[in-house]
Amino acid sequence: MLIKPSPKDGCLKHDGAEGAHFSRLTPTAASPHQKSDPVLPMMTLFEQLEARYHNRSVTVGVVGMGYVGLPLILAAASAGYRVVGFDVDPRKVDMINAGNSYLKHIESGHIAAPVGQARLRATTCFDDIKAVDAIIICVPTPLTRNREPDLSFVESTAQTIAPHLRKGHLVVLESTTWPGTTAEIVKPILERTGLRSGEDFFLAFSPEREDPGNSEFSTRTIPKVVGGDDVTSCKLVSVLYSSIVEKVVTVSSTKVAEAAKLTENIFRAVNIALVNELKVIYDAMGIDVWEVIEAAKTKPFGFTPFYPGPGLGGHCIPIDPFYLTWKAREYEISTRFIELAGEINTLMPYYVVDKLARALDHSAGRGLRHARILILGIAYKKNVDDTRESPALKLIELIETRGANVDFYDPYVSVIPPTREHPRLAGRQCVSWAAKDLSSYDAAVIATDHDAVDYRELCQLVPLVVDTRNVCARAGWSGNNVVKA
Ligand SMILES: NC(=O)c1ccc[n+]([C@@H]2O[C@H](COP(=O)([O-])OP(=O)(O)OC[C@H]3O[C@@H](n4cnc5c(N)ncnc54)[C@H](O)[C@@H]3O)[C@@H](O)[C@H]2O)c1
Repeated sequence: MLIKPSPKDGCLKHDGAEGAHFSRLTPTAASPHQKSDPVLPMMTLFEQLEARYHNRSVTVGVVGMGYVGLPLILAAASAGYRVVGFDVDPRKVDMINAGNSYLKHIESGHIAAPVGQARLRATTCFDDIKAVDAIIICVPTPLTRNREPDLSFVESTAQTIAPHLRKGHLVVLESTTWPGTTAEIVKPILERTGLRSGEDFFLAFSPEREDPGNSEFSTRTIPKVVGGDDVTSCKLVSVLYSSIVEKVVTVSSTKVAEAAKLTENIFRAVNIALVNELKVIYDAMGIDVWEVIEAAKTKPFGFTPFYPGPGLGGHCIPIDPFYLTWKAREYEISTRFIELAGEINTLMPYYVVDKLARALDHSAGRGLRHARILILGIAYKKNVDDTRESPALKLIELIETRGANVDFYDPYVSVIPPTREHPRLAGRQCVSWAAKDLSSYDAAVIATDHDAVDYRELCQLVPLVVDTRNVCARAGWSGNNVVKA
């Protein structure tokens, strides 16, 4: 659901609670819409801005404080900027201002520190955009019901920024989208103000590469691709991100930066589809695809391992490829390869349920009807609490359609949140991990391989375990009640 920011409501609601913080939110002392700095009379607007970014006398605003926006806010604050997070969700705003995290993989202490030092605050008051110098947009880019790009969040954010746009502002879109969005959608909305991109304000696209739960890489250590609407915008956005992340990679346009992000995610979607297809083929031949991949990846060049699973999940891989296929139609180009990958990945939950039914049939001589099935892992990937597009939700629905009773266990998800695709599942609660309960199930299906699960105990207590992640083998359990799917 698209919630339009309501500046008045947000300001009224939060002014009182955040009074101390808000009093600091006057436009940055040397903002370029004010009189030029007298000691820097010969400097161009870019040079003045560059100097202010270098000495951190600018305020960075981030619109959308979700899985992407929140880590970015923290990275900008730890780089020495004053940061304001904007969101339409007052719960998130209140939690940030109280120094609390709402994402399990981000510790509250990381938020409380910059809030305590008055370097970070959050607000629903979008009037405050005029007081920040850089505005980074991290709002959702989902698909519509007809699986077409839904840019309503990006458009409404640009419309919200426009009345507050001023000389010297840097606007950066980070939301994943089709090539051309920044120039064709965001820029015209901002230029309707009469201000010109590249002259009065600066406009860029920089794709987010956040990988929640991945402890090897942080926002700071992942190289950042940036593309400007013009040369000066590219230079200014590079100045900003170079101070936040270790490496910035500049490209020639916003379009190239947008395409780079889609290419990364399409590369993953297609390769995952390939190993999913290989899994089905090899399984029919009695070959373990995971063993094959382990062997193949010993080749020191020309092979990148991807792993099969119960289907695609998350906000990116199942969605982003369709931003490109939609845009390609404008050029009368069909995207068969990408569509085929989507088809194969979409079929994976059906394949898993079929394997479960056959395994129950063989091991217990019973069908799915009235069977008690435990789904392990509702999050779409390990060690995070994100259930968006999770194939586990599809698995529950498919298994229940066959007449079984399904429970779930997930150390990261206590309740299934509302989703557009699976409204019936909203509110279901995670069951407890108790030996007597586990042994009452006919089968368990491992949909997500969270680390904080005792797979050995699971396999000892549940008569049949269908493993879509090969995690039992990795945990050293090779009992014959485990079926890979
Ligand atoms: N989640 C990831 O791992 C990931 C990785 C790379 C790129 N991305 C891309 O980044 C973008 C954001 O994804 P996310 O996962 O952070 O989404 P999210 O749903 O976690 O967060 C989006 C935030 O934006 C807020 N919001 C919605 N409309 C708003 C508006 N009009 N004004 C202000 N705030 C608004 C929501 O309340 C929410 O807090 C998407 O385009 C996504 O494809 C996500």
